[in-house]
Amino acid sequence: MKVDVLLGLQWGDEGKGKIVDVITPDYDIIARFQGGPNAGHTLIFEGQKQVLHTIPSGIFRSNTLNVIGNGVVIDPVTLKAEILEIEKKGVDVTKNLLISKKAHLILPTHKILDRYSEESKGKKKIGSTLKGIGPTYMDKTGRNGLRMGDTQGDQFKERYDTLVAKHIRLLGDYPYQDLLKETENAWFEAIEFLSKIELIDSEHYLNNALQSGKKILAEGAQGTLLDIDFGTYPFVTSSNTVTAGTCTGLGIAPNKVGEVIGIFKAYCTRVGSGPFPTELENEVGQKIREIGHEYGATTGRDRRCGWIDLPALKYANMINGVTQLSMMKADVLDTFDTIHVCTHYKVNGELVDYLPYDITGMDIEPVYKEVKGWNTDLTGLKDLKNAPQEFLDYIAYLEQELNVPISIVSVGPDRDQTINRG
Ligand code: GDP
Ligand code: IMO
Ligand code: MG
Repeated sequence: MKVDVLLGLQWGDEGKGKIVDVITPDYDIIARFQGGPNAGHTLIFEGQKQVLHTIPSGIFRSNTLNVIGNGVVIDPVTLKAEILEIEKKGVDVTKNLLISKKAHLILPTHKILDRYSEESKGKKKIGSTLKGIGPTYMDKTGRNGLRMGDTQGDQFKERYDTLVAKHIRLLGDYPYQDLLKETENAWFEAIEFLSKIELIDSEHYLNNALQSGKKILAEGAQGTLLDIDFGTYPFVTSSNTVTAGTCTGLGIAPNKVGEVIGIFKAYCTRVGSGPFPTELENEVGQKIREIGHEYGATTGRDRRCGWIDLPALKYANMINGVTQLSMMKADVLDTFDTIHVCTHYKVNGELVDYLPYDITGMDIEPVYKEVKGWNTDLTGLKDLKNAPQEFLDYIAYLEQELNVPISIVSVGPDRDQTINRG
């Protein structure tokens, strides 16, 4: 057996949560491999909406186990709140949620450091979700971090105090005291609360599961263009969001990776700062935002909107080894007479079809092909046989350009608004 991977090909919020929820019945285990509560994955079914931040999106399907892998960073307070919310919906997390002992902990001071870092950057800020992601991964690679497994040791409080003392030195005269006082008790209470969830050696657990024929899906967070190595650095997150992140974030060997399902929107969005060549800072972008409800699932911020970007998608396909694509939110373009597709960029007067080294502040002009819109409500579409020709042409054109089949087409936020092309 191999591990299939599902991840975002743009700047996040492509609709990963929805598709994981839709395809979960095909799997025994869903495992998150990176990121933390900066993620917001929305699931809509039976008239209910649920946003998940740390818990894998298979949690609402009974018979499926959900694993938070070693590559994830956990804020106990957020995770506790998330568990309490889904328990209200009848899910017994003590039965279907497992956490890696090696997953790192986000401390209250990591969140304060995140805020401090963003405030000191001023206009150059990353636009972080302020969930403490960057500082926590810094402590992980700096070999100072605390992990879930440490919560079971007798020296936990002492090790916590040592790390907090280091953070306080870094904060200098930044006014952290009130923020820390407000959050520290809740943090320890949440650690206590989480003791009811089983901690596992997830790399052994997952490899044993594979050996015994279980099917595993790795669920990505963020998107390829936010990857720490391959994204639009420095306007990125602090983890490897690409397929390779599955190997380090779950302990899965590269030759055990199976299908790679790349998720993209029929257009493009970005939240936070950083370059976005096809951004539409006009009424067209505003129309996409309104119809697509493009507001952050974690922070509520306006998402920046623009046209689909083929050079960026081709790059994402290359880095991830995508074997099938899911096109999301096609319905959002239902009322556009003309749709623009960026095929190239013009950089210093020269036509290029790849993402240059650093596009921050660069004079980069998208070159568009214009295609005819379908002007039809797709939200009730169940079978592509009944789809308007212009929509079929759009799918065929993207498949030809990207050279990967589009196996799923999504025409609305609900589980049921999903067309599987087999
Ligand atoms: P994720 O972070 O990749 O899981 O995506 P988010 O949940 O942050 O953002 C995707 C948003 O689009 C959510 O509000 C979804 O409910 C919604 N959504 C997903 N698929 C579709 C679709 O095909 N059409 C429409 N209109 N909305 C969708
Ligand atoms: P999902 O999993 C969209 C963005 C932030 C910011 C940058 C760094 O829902 O797709 P961080 O908090 O990691 O320090 O923020 O990355 N970002 C996301 N944008 N979707 C996400 O997750 C994101 N997680 C982080 O807006 O620009
Ligand atoms: Mg999201």
